[in-house]
Amino acid sequence: MGKFYSKNYWSVGFQSKLYDRLSPESYFESMRRVVAFLPEGKSFTLLDAGCGSGLLLRFLAAHVVYTGTDLLKSGVDRTLLRAQELGVSDRVSCFQSDLTSPLPVDGQKFDVVVGHFSLYTLASSELRQLALKNLRAVMKAEGILILANPSVDYDADAIIEQSIRLVRERQGVLASLIKQYLVYPFTKAVGLRFIQNQLTSGKWQAYTREGLSQEMEEAGFSVQHIEDVYAGSAFLGVARRASTG
Ligand SMILES: C[S@@+](CC[C@H](N)C(=O)[O-])C[C@H]1O[C@@H](n2cnc3c(N)ncnc32)[C@H](O)[C@@H]1O
Repeated sequence: MGKFYSKNYWSVGFQSKLYDRLSPESYFESMRRVVAFLPEGKSFTLLDAGCGSGLLLRFLAAHVVYTGTDLLKSGVDRTLLRAQELGVSDRVSCFQSDLTSPLPVDGQKFDVVVGHFSLYTLASSELRQLALKNLRAVMKAEGILILANPSVDYDADAIIEQSIRLVRERQGVLASLIKQYLVYPFTKAVGLRFIQNQLTSGKWQAYTREGLSQEMEEAGFSVQHIEDVYAGSAFLGVARRASTG
């Protein structure tokens, strides 16, 4: 894989909207699992850490006050545009930041922090700890952290298979055939294979269940729940900000 591709992978995806168009249904299902752990009923503040193109916004209820942050301006711009398209700009804000530096946020502001497939791209455990501690610093006491990261069993074929099945069940046979033959071959070739290579070469982090749990605990969180998502290709962890430390 060329250096240019590697460096500009997300940016090109966000600007061209290919990232949105090629995301497999199983990825959206993982976002729905994130939403399943959010507080119901009352309004709360959520930080989407490494928000990318802001896809999570599609799944959030009206009582969520959303802040997105990403290293890439293209991600922040796309998220703000999505908020406009969805008609939710009044409760959405964004800023550009590197999670490995202290975040430009006043105080412990967030009830919930979500890192959906973002922290695993930080190559060393030191950098991931730094990012988690920076996130912890802007969370309210007892705030909720929800992370999804790829697993050591990441399997592009399983992701596509599950995605086709989900589309067939929800949108019918025609939609699933279109995805299967016209969309997902590109998803696999351009997206999933690249990610799988990054994981197997160790450039990005693939997790065991215990590894994800340990990483959260070490950064000062108390893990409440871990489950597998994304056709067994990722783990989703839910933790509380521990009040001490
Ligand atoms: C796989 S994308 C996930 C985007 C989004 N969370 C989603 O689920 O669609 C990974 C995102 O993490 C962001 N990212 C990686 N390292 C980062 C860092 N150090 N600080 C902030 N964002 C970062 C990338 O720019 C990219 O947008």
